[in-house]
Amino acid sequence: MTDFASSTTTPLAAEADLLIAPVFEGPEPGPGVRELGLLAAYEAAKLTGKKGQHLLVPRPADATFAAGAVLLVGVGAKASFDVTAMRRAAGSAAGTARRFGRVTTTLALPAGARHAADAVQAVAEGLGLGAYRFDRYRSKPREERGVTSVTVLSSERWDAKQVRAAIQRADVLVDAVCWARDLVNTPASDLPPAALADAAREMAEEVGLTCRIWDETELEDGGFGGILGVGRGSVHPPRMIELSYRRGGRSAPLALSGKGVTFDSGGLSIKTADGMESMKDDMGGAASILGTMKAIARLKPKVNVIAAIPASENMPSGSAQKPGDVIRHYGGTTSEVLNTDAEGRLILADAIAYLASQDPALIVDTATLTGACMVALGTDITGAMGNDDRLARDLIAAGAAAGEPMWQLPLFHDYRALIDSNVADIKNIGKRYGGAITAAWFLAEFAGETPWVHLDIAGPAFTDQGTDLSPKGATGVPIRTLVRFILDRAA
Ligand code: BES
Ligand code: MN
Ligand code: ZN
Repeated sequence: MTDFASSTTTPLAAEADLLIAPVFEGPEPGPGVRELGLLAAYEAAKLTGKKGQHLLVPRPADATFAAGAVLLVGVGAKASFDVTAMRRAAGSAAGTARRFGRVTTTLALPAGARHAADAVQAVAEGLGLGAYRFDRYRSKPREERGVTSVTVLSSERWDAKQVRAAIQRADVLVDAVCWARDLVNTPASDLPPAALADAAREMAEEVGLTCRIWDETELEDGGFGGILGVGRGSVHPPRMIELSYRRGGRSAPLALSGKGVTFDSGGLSIKTADGMESMKDDMGGAASILGTMKAIARLKPKVNVIAAIPASENMPSGSAQKPGDVIRHYGGTTSEVLNTDAEGRLILADAIAYLASQDPALIVDTATLTGACMVALGTDITGAMGNDDRLARDLIAAGAAAGEPMWQLPLFHDYRALIDSNVADIKNIGKRYGGAITAAWFLAEFAGETPWVHLDIAGPAFTDQGTDLSPKGATGVPIRTLVRFILDRAA
């Protein structure tokens, strides 16, 4: 666990095992290179401040600074060093920081007063998120201290109360994101639906959320045919996790859902071995909503938030649902299951219909829903689709501020007909092209008139390469966006 703090101490006086300082591209080496007495090191290492350059300088005997070592981080041109760049620069330094323990940094100081709080939050987030590791399954402990504390240096001219609140947000967000990453990184055999539900219940007790777990009998009685249909082939029965946070008086709640397919084999429409390799991550949407609820419960904004998270394991077996089967979703809409690998929409349909029946102000769902969305937008960008362009715009803006990029795809009307079924109300696949959009059209059926946006996170939920903010594996996207969106709504 990392401790987060801010301080108005000078960089020279800041006590830590490591001081992280930015270096801009341009004729002037700095800021702070001269003051730290590191001009000779800067020149000898031929630094230019280009993004991605790192130089670790151990403390010389005659050092004018108190820290045990300095890490100079190239951040590019000063004009482009915005809050997003600060977060990423901090994240890129986190791997080195893990060797040191107590870390302090001047990375937020170039921000203007107007962006001070966002800058402090981003830098603390970057270090906390970049330092995450998933070690539960390693038999030998790492020989690193990890990042034990992060102190973000701030200006005396900044609003101290806002800076403190920013540090608290970063602390809460890093905890929520890392907790969600742990859930996603956990192998599917160790986290079937009931175990995911147990983790949610434990979290809810810890932070004071109301929690109800629907078991398979209750789902049967309630008419949740999608969650049950997808789970039918598995020996691990499905669950639905219902969470509620109420601090918003009588106002209509914001409603959240997330795809919780704890493993996606494809079912009888089985995937290839390659296609299955990362499918323990198919509950990344569920984990992102659980993480969001955890953070909201700790930040306590004046707003009501409810969540319904469907969890099923999609397996082929003698009891599995078959292509051509018709299932009945919560609320009565029927769907023809022509491909059992298009399962996420089937379980989300029940949860979205259930949420819509509670008269929420809006619904947002997150899901590792389609390979097609990855083809459209690549691995780094979330696809946003829905029935309310203003809501989509607000979410995309929150994503930009949080450093989680999103792009809207159109719910183009003519494509609705692609999911017309010959035997049921709708079918669960469209044609070959436009798969992210036909999947969204399927979900739209269940949101009805409620303003709703679907976030397809098939790309960004998981990273094969690692990013500045995340080692290889689960990323926790889009928790920081959703929390920001909810805090903005409450304010
Ligand atoms: N979980 C997958 C989508 C996915 C694929 C996420 C790759 C991350 C990486 C989803 O359940 C799925 O299998 N979708 C199918 C839908 C198709 C059968 C209409 C797909 O995208 O191929
Ligand atoms: Mn699938
Ligand atoms: Zn899936």
